[in-house]
Amino acid sequence: MTPLIVDTDPGVDDAFALAVAALAPEVDLRAVTTVHGNVAVEQTTENARRLLGTFGRPDVPVGRGAGRPLVHLLGRRPGRLSGADVHGDDGLGGRSGDFGPPVDESELRAVALMASVIEASEEPVTIAAIGPFTNIATLLSARPDLEERIGRFVLMGGSIAYGGNVSAAAEFNVWGDPEAARRVLTGSSVSTTMVPLDLTMRITLTGDWLDGLAATGPVGAALASTREAYLAAYSARFGHAAMAVHDAVALLEAITPGTVSTTPLPVDVDTSTGPGRGTTIGDLRGAEAEATDGARPVEVALDADADAVRAELWRRLSG
Ligand code: BDR
Ligand code: CA
Repeated sequence: MTPLIVDTDPGVDDAFALAVAALAPEVDLRAVTTVHGNVAVEQTTENARRLLGTFGRPDVPVGRGAGRPLVHLLGRRPGRLSGADVHGDDGLGGRSGDFGPPVDESELRAVALMASVIEASEEPVTIAAIGPFTNIATLLSARPDLEERIGRFVLMGGSIAYGGNVSAAAEFNVWGDPEAARRVLTGSSVSTTMVPLDLTMRITLTGDWLDGLAATGPVGAALASTREAYLAAYSARFGHAAMAVHDAVALLEAITPGTVSTTPLPVDVDTSTGPGRGTTIGDLRGAEAEATDGARPVEVALDADADAVRAELWRRLSG
């Protein structure tokens, strides 16, 4: 079984992703680490603990991580900083109190917990990161000796041609800590798959799909209960009631490599303080860019069978 760490900021779609990870027989979920993002890290940590309680995984340690990005611009960056308008003030659509009982919080903070799991593992560890990448960048900086023991990063974040979902050009997780995203995407030797908005925005779940999931059992009902504000936000923006569960797509790929089709592209991140801040720039010259600029390609997930992904989510989350 592949050892897995999930770094997360729950978050409605993080909840779907954590359910996939917690219930998957193919992986050994060794830790969940939390980060600022959709809501403050105190709340994302509580949500992760409650979600693991609901999914029957008190054995999984939860390590609290960064409460702010690496570089704090003291309010000078444009745009919003929280996902509460989409995920609700508590990150779980106002329903966080229904989840639980909360599992214990580890005495180890996120980076120390990740390091201890990686050190103890005989096999390379997969890390799925589905919030801003602050903890991952810190791990790489603090413990470069562990890089070769990380089998793979699967990152939900960025956008190649889709545009942004939090500013004109930036995706939320990259926007949440552009310097960290740049460190992870351009400055590590770990095999990396990036799952961007270009793909996740094509794999949406309708209100009817979620109603059906709610009727399948307690896990489906708990997840579907978080949907109201999230679905309403998608409806308001796109004119129809269907929501993307970005992070769950990344988790399916982490658990079953090959779920998504990837293209190797060097990806850089705009860390300026102008309107491009947080933009991911995929170099469509691909191998040529690698040869001329020495840029490292990451595997960018640009395609998948959307119906098959939805069916797989249903199979894993129903019952
Ligand atoms: C990402 O942003 C967050 O709001 C979601 O949880 C997901 O990780 C999508 O852009
Ligand atoms: Ca997330």
